[in-house]
Amino acid sequence: MPAADPTATQPVAYGDGLHARGCPVVHGPGGEVIVVGHEETRRVAEDAETFSSSVSRFLQIPNGLDGEEHRRFRALLDTYLDASVVQNLSGGFHAVAREVVAEHLTGETVTVDAVGDLGDTFAVRTMLDWLGWAPELEDRLVAWVKENNVATRSGELERTAAAAAEFDAIIDAAVGPKLADPGEDVTSRLIEDDSLGRRLTREEVVSILRNWTGGDLSSMSYCIGVLLKALADNPPLQERLRAGVGGAEFEAIVDEVLRRDSPFVSNRRVTTCPVTLGGVEVPEGNQIRLHWTAANRDPEAFEDPDGFDPEAHADKNLVWGAGPHYCPGKALSMVELEAFLTELLRAASVRNPDWEEAQPAAVREIHPVGGWSSLPVTLVRLDG
Ligand code: HEM
Repeated sequence: MPAADPTATQPVAYGDGLHARGCPVVHGPGGEVIVVGHEETRRVAEDAETFSSSVSRFLQIPNGLDGEEHRRFRALLDTYLDASVVQNLSGGFHAVAREVVAEHLTGETVTVDAVGDLGDTFAVRTMLDWLGWAPELEDRLVAWVKENNVATRSGELERTAAAAAEFDAIIDAAVGPKLADPGEDVTSRLIEDDSLGRRLTREEVVSILRNWTGGDLSSMSYCIGVLLKALADNPPLQERLRAGVGGAEFEAIVDEVLRRDSPFVSNRRVTTCPVTLGGVEVPEGNQIRLHWTAANRDPEAFEDPDGFDPEAHADKNLVWGAGPHYCPGKALSMVELEAFLTELLRAASVRNPDWEEAQPAAVREIHPVGGWSSLPVTLVRLDG
């Protein structure tokens, strides 16, 4: 099995390079096995008995759980994230999107950072709205998202530990008042949830909120970057969305754009027994990394990985994972993205700026995240 270190590489280029060499499974640093083939990635994700999600010494609900315990927590959590439940948030999210667009569309033509200006603000504000957290936490949370991205990219342990500590402090500031005086919001409902036959412990509540917010604020913001780049590159697609598309069609378009440049790059597993994967013998207890970005561009599954064919590629799309850990936040993400894109395209057309003059510069992200770390887009106000 060849070795290929993903560190400090751009995930799309990393995966494409391995596909060109015909390597579905490679050795990463520290003996980790990295799975980039589509078939192998799906197999690992769907076989949760052989490939355990219990990879961290920290409590991770539901990400780090297996088997029956995972199923019980997923049943509880899915009631908060079910499509019929989150659809009710649409009106509030449209209002947030209108605000964010108005705050940045300050002239007839403006150039803004799709990720740092639009994505981060929209992701944080909708999350505060959904969870019922105090609006005063916005600046702190936006600053945290930016610092956490830099810290993750740097790989410096001290910096990542400081970002984790700041995040715990933010969660404490959000949860503390709800514990003392619960309301009707999602965080309070979680604190008072007794569907497991008991209340959740404070540690469990904090772990759930960390998983809902910590990684997913960045994912939402990165998704917005990738989507706005696709729209700037493809004016007819912009027109199609502006004319209004149905829920299923909207979802298929978003899935396909994200498939080509998946910003949510990878997840880990550990083998519970010896296994052969992509022709490679992997011993028990071996760390595995599922590389969604690479799997979503495997030419064995997608003849032209850069092609745009939402219908034909839907069944093989792995942007939201596969198997028992399939993303429970997809419906919520779609309600957010529908609100954001609808309001943005109603107000403006999205163009690529003059790249030489664009500030900030367009910068691709590197492992362990994908998409763009900054992406200038020009917004041209539409009449009416
Ligand atoms: C915005 C774009 C998002 C993308 C691309 C994304 C992608 C993914 C993927 C690929 C997985 C599978 C992880 C695995 O197999 O180990 C996952 C799991 C998960 N996602 Fe998302 N996600 C997004 C947004 C969200 C949001 C908004 C939430 C919640 C508010 C969320 C909550 C979760 C949770 C809790 C899991 C773990 C599920 C489990 O272990 O059973 N995600 N996500």
